Amino acid sequence: MIIAVDGPAASGKGTIARRLAAHFDLPYLDTGGLYRAVGLAMLRAESDPNDAARAAEVAETLDLRLLDDPALRDAATAEAASRIAVHPPVRAALVDVQRRFAGQAPGAVLDGRDIGTVICPDADHKLFVTADIETRAARRHKELIARGEASIYARVLEDLRRRDHRDSSRATAPTRQADDAVELDTTDLDIEGAVAAALATIAR
Ligand code: DC
Repeated sequence: MIIAVDGPAASGKGTIARRLAAHFDLPYLDTGGLYRAVGLAMLRAESDPNDAARAAEVAETLDLRLLDDPALRDAATAEAASRIAVHPPVRAALVDVQRRFAGQAPGAVLDGRDIGTVICPDADHKLFVTADIETRAARRHKELIARGEASIYARVLEDLRRRDHRDSSRATAPTRQADDAVELDTTDLDIEGAVAAALATIAR
């Protein structure tokens, strides 16, 4: 069983995907982490995220230890991830690892932007998780404060707007709801409510 969970930043897709994986006892992959790892490596090497060839090289030889790096969750890393994610050769370099993960025997839960449309178009279940941008910004702001980052709500909102726009307007694999995905709006739901709604969708 493959479950694809897509949606914009801070929509709740990561929490929902993790909880679905635990519920169905399936392995879980946060594909945003792969793009964040490439972005982080580029930041640390002081490479320009607009340099497609350099970013592709980093993606092809990705140091998977970066997935456990606390800086993966920094706002600067998210921005770098979104910027390197527009380059087709970067995306191409990360396809295999995602498809291999999805192809494991029991199945898998993957969350990202293009899982239902590009990585696993034949997934058994597809959710597209959304929420109002103000709600998403408030969630992300709270998260960053809890991590000790000096976060400013207005800046988080602005960053999300810019990232949403870049992620959904890029030419290759933009954030998009697959035709056969079910939309789950988490604006007025807490975590338990969102997970319950996701499970109900899958049960149907
Ligand atoms: O889900 P996230 O916020 O951790 O993702 C960080 C960035 O990575 C996001 O702004 C766009 C990119 N990304 C992508 O292009 N495709 C994916 N499947 C996952 C993330």
